[in-house]
Amino acid sequence: MKARENFLSIAVPDISDAERLQMTECLDSGWISVGPKVREFEKLFAEYHGVRNAVATSSCTTSLFIAAKVLGIGEGDKVIVPTITWQSTANIVEQLGATPLFADVDRRTMNIDLASVEKLFHDHGRSVKAVIPVHHSGLPAEIESIDAIADSHNVPVIYDAAHAVFSSYDGRMIGGFGKMSCFSFYATKNLTTGDGGIITTDDDELAEQCRIWSYHGLPKDSWKRYSAENASPHVQCIVPGYKFNMTDLQAALGIAQMARKDELLAKRNRLVEHYNSILSGIDWLEIPVHETERGRWGNHVYVVKILNEDVDRDAFMGELRKLNVGTNLHFYPVHKNLFYEMKYPDVSLPAAEWLMDRILTIPLCTKYSVDDLNYVSEAMKHVYGKRLAHRKVSAG
Ligand SMILES: Cc1ncc(COP(=O)(O)O)c(C=O)c1O
Repeated sequence: MKARENFLSIAVPDISDAERLQMTECLDSGWISVGPKVREFEKLFAEYHGVRNAVATSSCTTSLFIAAKVLGIGEGDKVIVPTITWQSTANIVEQLGATPLFADVDRRTMNIDLASVEKLFHDHGRSVKAVIPVHHSGLPAEIESIDAIADSHNVPVIYDAAHAVFSSYDGRMIGGFGKMSCFSFYATKNLTTGDGGIITTDDDELAEQCRIWSYHGLPKDSWKRYSAENASPHVQCIVPGYKFNMTDLQAALGIAQMARKDELLAKRNRLVEHYNSILSGIDWLEIPVHETERGRWGNHVYVVKILNEDVDRDAFMGELRKLNVGTNLHFYPVHKNLFYEMKYPDVSLPAAEWLMDRILTIPLCTKYSVDDLNYVSEAMKHVYGKRLAHRKVSAG
């Protein structure tokens, strides 16, 4: 098979004239840090998710950190997280001086496994102070059951909704569940601000705390202090806060992307359906679950599983790379990352450790065409059919 000319990376941002216009308007406005565009973006996002408050930050990682911080997570506490996630879900727990308790995931959906959560509550009792489930690939976790388990222990749930800007559960947008949800607007996400994040919550007091902690611990942000109608030189921190705010330049991108959300979602879903149609029925490949009875349509990433254990997944990725197809892993289990493996060597999670060598994320983004997806499918079939990544069987 001849390699395509251009490298097809896992995803690229979808930027149109609408984003360019918003950015130019912001640059020309004289206000490029946190200001009116951030407030407008927060309002749009909160309305879209049907939630009372949205607090924009510099990333989903800082959103998760602030959310856990305002819930009082700190030294000596334990927090349940799935091991199949981006490192930051666990890193923020460590940064706060607490201990992440790694839960296994469902092998099919890759979302947090309920039995594993129950067991961690059973084993660690009252030292567990929060649960942070992930909506993997945008597929909603089992929210009702997770909330019920957490409620029975009087523990709050923060949903890591980094992948789930477009997801819903029981017909409600995903941002309204748990105590708080944290989203990512990183460059390759469903909706991007370059880098950025947002915390959604119906709790006004928690939202105010998030705002204060993410902006130097000040009860007023710069926009309120510097604008003519609010000018007030004196402002004092009421907590030793961080500098984790989103900027107007980022929000300008976000506002334009929000206006295009239906177009972006429809295109993403069409591409996912196309992948489903060309990749289903292959006996060595499992396609992702993108919809359950109650949760649907996130589709941030398309993660397949290579079922034939004779195939070396890393070699498979290498062969695809030679054909100019980029791949990724969502995710290598966090408890198997060097830092965590050394600190918590006894963690053993069978489903995640099976997935570790079998998952493969293939290119998906709204800039790609059906032809691009067809090429990816052909490339995978070629690598498999020619046994380019099969483990060698030694003679005798
Ligand atoms: C599940 C999950 N949580 C958190 C994050 C962190 O997001 P950010 O890059 O916006 O900090 C990511 C990033 O991709 C993620 O995939």
